[in-house]
Amino acid sequence: MDLRADFLVIGSGIAGLRAALSLAEAGEVVILTKSDPGESNTGYAQGGIAAAIGADDSPELHARDTIAAGDGLCVPEAVDRLVHDGPRDVRELLDWGAAFDRDADGRPSLGREAAHSVRRVLHARDATGREITRLLWARVSACARIRLLDDAGATELSIEDGACTGVRFVRGAVDVGTATARRTLLATGGAGQVFRETTNPAVATGDGIAMAARAGARLTDLEFVQFHPTVLNVEGAPRFLLSEALRGEGARLVNEAGEAFMTRDDPAGDLAPRDVVARAIVREVERTGTPVYLTLAHLDADFVTRRFPTIARACAHAGFNLARDRIPVSPAAHYLMGGVATDLDARTSIPGLFAAGEVACTGVHGANRLASNSLLEGLVFGARAAAAMKAAPQPAALMVGELIDVRLPGRASAAVPTAYEVRDLMWRSVGLLRIARGLEAASAQLDAWLAACEAAGGARRCDAELRRTTTLVTVGWFIARAALRRHESRGAHFRADFPARDDLHWSKHVSDVLHT
Ligand code: FAD
Ligand code: SIN
Repeated sequence: MDLRADFLVIGSGIAGLRAALSLAEAGEVVILTKSDPGESNTGYAQGGIAAAIGADDSPELHARDTIAAGDGLCVPEAVDRLVHDGPRDVRELLDWGAAFDRDADGRPSLGREAAHSVRRVLHARDATGREITRLLWARVSACARIRLLDDAGATELSIEDGACTGVRFVRGAVDVGTATARRTLLATGGAGQVFRETTNPAVATGDGIAMAARAGARLTDLEFVQFHPTVLNVEGAPRFLLSEALRGEGARLVNEAGEAFMTRDDPAGDLAPRDVVARAIVREVERTGTPVYLTLAHLDADFVTRRFPTIARACAHAGFNLARDRIPVSPAAHYLMGGVATDLDARTSIPGLFAAGEVACTGVHGANRLASNSLLEGLVFGARAAAAMKAAPQPAALMVGELIDVRLPGRASAAVPTAYEVRDLMWRSVGLLRIARGLEAASAQLDAWLAACEAAGGARRCDAELRRTTTLVTVGWFIARAALRRHESRGAHFRADFPARDDLHWSKHVSDVLHT
């Protein structure tokens, strides 16, 4: 199957769908998505989408909170675009009919989440992503100029004379096709599946990062992986996210003895930034040898089940009453701040190739993303990507920061691993608490595994399992290398052997470029 279009969009989350709607104003659009159209991180988003629309809020205040959470590494110009374009782009969603919760006066009801100084999170109860997906998908389906192909996984970028001309893709196990376009947008989302414990669905394997890397695109800040502090921690049950909005509405973290331990670690208590809360939970579990819990028992039970019906159902499924019981929680990999390096218009270092949403790194989140800024990023930078893709000419992005040339490891000295082995290693050695010894051993193991995957045919093969494993190993390999090289702790990147932030040496973004 060979497809041609003016614009090609890979991925059907908020960034891809928002971009496609704008691109269709200027030409024919093809969207490839590797599973069902609604299967994406976007579809599972709970807490909401942040935007400075409240009477007590302003883009400047939103920028200040974003930059504070980003721990000295946010790119100010990117933050500026996010907070200034954000209110307009979110109002557009409301105009299109987004069924966000409303206050009695009819205005959007604004939720509170960690490290936001005011209430600024629009939400559709606790299933905001499902509502945004429904809305965007309805508009995309009604647009004759957009063709969507599901179960179509992009495997490799097509590069001619140094520019991107489209992708190769597989459908099912055998059907290999090409899609060719003047401009290609990577909107393939994050890579939570690289870790054994994650909030992310199965599609989030970092395909866009691996494909871009192999094509020689610049990757940035891959050491910065956000671990959400609170997922349901029940043996055998999925790691279901327990939204930060729960704590925003008054839920407390307590230890086995019922002590609210967060106030010991940070004056912001349960609403401290995510990295702080996640590490505090791990330390409390280590200190006490017993689990940590979320409790909402002091809140009005009717309010809890009305405001959080999806979470209440998931807890009930695991045998807990959200409004009454203590719910055991632990951290899990949630979001990738780093990714394919882009400028403010989503241009990558390869002409013709753009990236937006979680796959991209504009630097907007720095070392640690502020809650509910990711849906906003997908919306704002999806729209900005489309504007740039429609414009001509198309130079490659100009980027700053330190650049490191890397090469694939040499001869295979190990067997191809299982996906579980890769994810388990990443969780144990490249997770929330990192140290040189563990990172070095993990990097050496990933070197051997990557060479073995390459020798077996790697991501270009039709064997779905090998493709998935090769992608996980490739993305894990970049994350481990980046984590090993940053000799400091900042935001979500914590090194037990370098526990302090080191602005003198590390107040910078570091990029990798792969030479094959
Ligand atoms: P996604 O929504 O992940 O979409 C990626 C798309 O690319 C998918 O359709 C996928 O199938 C497709 N794809 C991947 N690889 C390929 C390939 N090789 N070929 C073709 N298609 C491919 N953020 C917030 O701001 N607020 C929240 O409340 C919030 N809650 C969250 C809750 C959960 C459980 C999770 C997992 C994340 C949450 N986030 C939240 C983060 C946020 O949802 C994501 O960062 C954001 O939705 C990413 O959007 P995206 O469009 O970049 O990618
Ligand atoms: C959550 O609801 O806690 C997730 C919000 C986010 O990832 O921004």
